[in-house]
Amino acid sequence: MSDVKVIKDGKLYFDGCDTTELAKKYGTPLYVMSYTEITKRLNELKEQFTDKYPGARVAYASKAFCTEGMYEILKQQGACIDVVSGGEIYAAKKVNFPAERVEFNGNNKLPSEIDMAVEYGVGRIILDGLNEIELIEEACKKYNKKMNIIIRITPGVAASTHDYIITGKKDSKFGIPLDEEVFMPIVKQVIDSEYLEFVGLHMHIGSQLFENDAFLQALDVLMDWAGKIKKEYDVDVKEVNFGGGYGATYIDEQRKPYSFFLDPMMERMNERAKEIGIQCPVAVVEPGRSIAAEAGITLYTVGQIKDIKGLRKYVSVDGGMGDNIRVALYQAEYTGVIANKAEEAKDDKVTVCGKCCESGDIILTDFMVPKSVERGDILATYSTGAYGYSMASNYNNNPIPGVVLVREGKSDWMVKPQTYEQIVQNNVIPDII
Ligand code: LLP
Repeated sequence: MSDVKVIKDGKLYFDGCDTTELAKKYGTPLYVMSYTEITKRLNELKEQFTDKYPGARVAYASKAFCTEGMYEILKQQGACIDVVSGGEIYAAKKVNFPAERVEFNGNNKLPSEIDMAVEYGVGRIILDGLNEIELIEEACKKYNKKMNIIIRITPGVAASTHDYIITGKKDSKFGIPLDEEVFMPIVKQVIDSEYLEFVGLHMHIGSQLFENDAFLQALDVLMDWAGKIKKEYDVDVKEVNFGGGYGATYIDEQRKPYSFFLDPMMERMNERAKEIGIQCPVAVVEPGRSIAAEAGITLYTVGQIKDIKGLRKYVSVDGGMGDNIRVALYQAEYTGVIANKAEEAKDDKVTVCGKCCESGDIILTDFMVPKSVERGDILATYSTGAYGYSMASNYNNNPIPGVVLVREGKSDWMVKPQTYEQIVQNNVIPDII
């Protein structure tokens, strides 16, 4: 159990706050994010990466958990952010996130999103296809700006993780395939453009990774192409973005320190740069999950309990796949605790399900709880901070839960819960009915 989760007086405390009191005060279902845990991970990155390697940057992958409050924390902590949509850019602008610290990714950036990014003046655009060039140039012309371009490659490396979150293999919608006749002309076009500044290359091989081999293999491929770019165009790759993907602990996975991945990567990049005859490029990482996952828990109230004798006991909670789709989508596994009975013996095996009209709406399978579990108890599920709130939906017109930020015993809203009225606010009765 991480430092921010503490069991005391029979209850679960999270970053100094009694979670049963949080449930009372703010209602459930509720996402709770820990300021201490978020900043602890950012500090680890600082110590193990940005302070150690000159120029290195951390661009937090907003997709893991994007709220204005989160951006405010990142802004204060000096981090950069990776954004992938107009919506993320919009939220960043709302907190006056410094534009030069915003890096814009995405496999199909819309013309309107490119326009927004260029007007804002983002620090980097990660190019993910030939036809983006024209769109970026057009926007640059309109706003009289020059954009820094990082080209995303598809390194053709399969990382070992769930199939849906592998992104680096050749058959992928992400990145530019490394075929000589496809890739090199794109690089050339960026180099030659009066509106674009070719800065470097980007890769991202997958998510929830615990081993380094695939990262190093992909880096080798990337550096081969940095060599080709040097040889053919006499242009240096000045920056390399390693992407994200560093694994987090959900149940008992042993999370690796950032240095486990990044020290060997930096060493390899240095060696390869020497061979090619360029300066060692500046390194950038885009971690999302490893910063946000363990910083979040979800609180639910237990409702209906159905004991199907000899088969299974279902404990229903007031949320479900609308606030955590990862179980249904990736067969993701979680753990947690009955927060108000945290020290009682766990002598009953149950399946925790949500309230959505869908059999796959399961949160925990074969989960051990005290026999006394009953309506009104508070269930806390752990490590829900990444890809929980950000992937939430209004399925069944259930409101998206609010997010509370906790910090050493203090708490406040980060996102208020949706109201029924907000769910239907954009509904119209068509005139043609
Ligand atoms: N950079 C790029 C270009 C990415 O595509 C991603 C994640 C990241 C960084 C951050 O990766 P992380 O450090 O969070 O592993 N919804 C899935 C995860 C999808 C990840 C997509 N890209 C899940 O819930 O497991």
